[in-house]
Amino acid sequence: MAIERTLSIVKPDAVGKNAIGAIYDRFEKAGLRIVAARMMHLTRAQAEGFYAVHKGRPFFNDLVAFMSSGPVMIQVLEGENAVAKNREVMGATNPKAAAAGTIRADFAASIDENAVHGSDGPDTARAEISYFFADTDICPRTR
Ligand code: PPS
Repeated sequence: MAIERTLSIVKPDAVGKNAIGAIYDRFEKAGLRIVAARMMHLTRAQAEGFYAVHKGRPFFNDLVAFMSSGPVMIQVLEGENAVAKNREVMGATNPKAAAAGTIRADFAASIDENAVHGSDGPDTARAEISYFFADTDICPRTR
């Protein structure tokens, strides 16, 4: 099994619900380790840059407004197959379709405000991690 890293964001709706700790618990119980973390209140420009791949899609402006509406908690998760494992723990993009027991089923109200972001593949993960973190910000586990 490959040890991977992935980028995760606890979005403004979940931070507002005071659910950072509960969501971190889901990651840790799934065997994902938090190896870097920072809280930020994204500017519009930072959110636009992060979601640039979705520019032109009908939900883009609302997504950028939402992601810059309050603080987010951003973390690098590390573990075996971290990208896929994180997406499994998150559940489907639309919480109405998310499996029971997933983060989005338990914490998200709608597809527009869906509690968490997770990279969708290893290449995306590398690009997204470097959007928010320098290599020296990441603390690999020694035990
Ligand atoms: S899709 O629809 O399968 O292409 O969605 P995806 O590529 O996973 O990511 C789309 C991101 O935009 C957020 N978002 C929405 N997606 C679809 N429809 C609506 N209305 C919508 N509103 C917001 C969605 O949560 C994805 O963001 P992240 O941060 O990756 O979860």
